[in-house]
Amino acid sequence: MTRLATLLGLELPLLQAGMGAVAGPALCAEVSRAGAGGTLALYREPPARAVRLVRQVAAAVGGRPFGVNVIPEVTGPAGCLDQLRAVLPELPRNGFVTAFGLPEADVFDAVRATGHPLVVQVGTVPDADTALARGADALVLQGTEAGGHLLGAQPVDSVLAAVRARHPHAVLAVAGGIATGEDLADAVARGADGAMAGTLFVPTVESTAHPDFKRRVVEAVAEDTLITSLFEIGWPHRPHRVLRNSLTTTADRAPATFIATTRVDGRPYPVPRYSAAAPGAGTTGRIEEMAMYCGRSCTRVTAPHPAAVTVARIRQEYESARALHTASHTRKSPVPHRIQER
Ligand SMILES: Cc1cc2nc3c(=O)[nH]c(=O)nc-3n(C[C@H](O)[C@H](O)[C@H](O)COP(=O)(O)O)c2cc1C
Repeated sequence: MTRLATLLGLELPLLQAGMGAVAGPALCAEVSRAGAGGTLALYREPPARAVRLVRQVAAAVGGRPFGVNVIPEVTGPAGCLDQLRAVLPELPRNGFVTAFGLPEADVFDAVRATGHPLVVQVGTVPDADTALARGADALVLQGTEAGGHLLGAQPVDSVLAAVRARHPHAVLAVAGGIATGEDLADAVARGADGAMAGTLFVPTVESTAHPDFKRRVVEAVAEDTLITSLFEIGWPHRPHRVLRNSLTTTADRAPATFIATTRVDGRPYPVPRYSAAAPGAGTTGRIEEMAMYCGRSCTRVTAPHPAAVTVARIRQEYESARALHTASHTRKSPVPHRIQER
């Protein structure tokens, strides 16, 4: 058990990232039922629909803990509070909240008032300091290896080392580069209490990502991803790691005309070229030109499995890797023992 697993009541110290267009009720519930931390993406969901989605997970999760994910930078501070005020009364007692980026102090107050743990994802040391000062129960430290929008400019190891040195007792998870149980065990050996993974779950059966998006993540290696600011419509001023496509490989900017249609609750919404929206299962149009967020961990993401199979595999790899790690530590310990015997 790590402190993250204890804090959130997980069997495995792994959080599935809330992911707009990808992490709906089915993925969230399956990940949690398998013993990891499933998380429902609230992204731009209007409060009334967010409530329905949370109820769906609560009914399917068999009493296991799960989280809801907010992005204050996308909804705005007031919109974020509206989502939280709507869903927090529906969240079971063992539920938790994850925030992408540093929320305003009133988000901390709203979550604290309900007693649910608040996990804040940051990418810089100053944001980590502020999140802990405002009362975050745990941090997710994101490195530039991560898929999706980027909160900092350093690789995950250096963010973890810097924040761990300043906050030896904080509950810290890492995000970026986690696709196997060995990756997770390595992060724990380097001082993390667990990890969050996004890309790993994009191709799972329960993910609502578009089939072409799933296929491309499975086929991709790290070099097929890049950091860009191209997909800025709807979410400006935040670089993001995506799969290379015909828009990222040309210097010419095409017009931002509508290229696709997404569906939310059966209603169609047009998607302009360079939109931040990722292609979901119900999206039609020029899927190839859309933002397919993907981390460097895709090299080790191989086949589309049910989420429960993915979590079970990670758990087995993690336990073997931890056992090896403990054994190698024990082998190194005879010197101090002999010293004690004398
Ligand atoms: C397809 C995709 C969508 C994402 N959407 C969100 C989101 O809605 N909310 C959020 O907190 N993080 C989101 N993220 C970022 C994750 O929180 C996390 O930083 C990232 O997935 C970690 O790197 P990895 O993808 O290599 O595991 C997304 C990531 C991906 C790959």
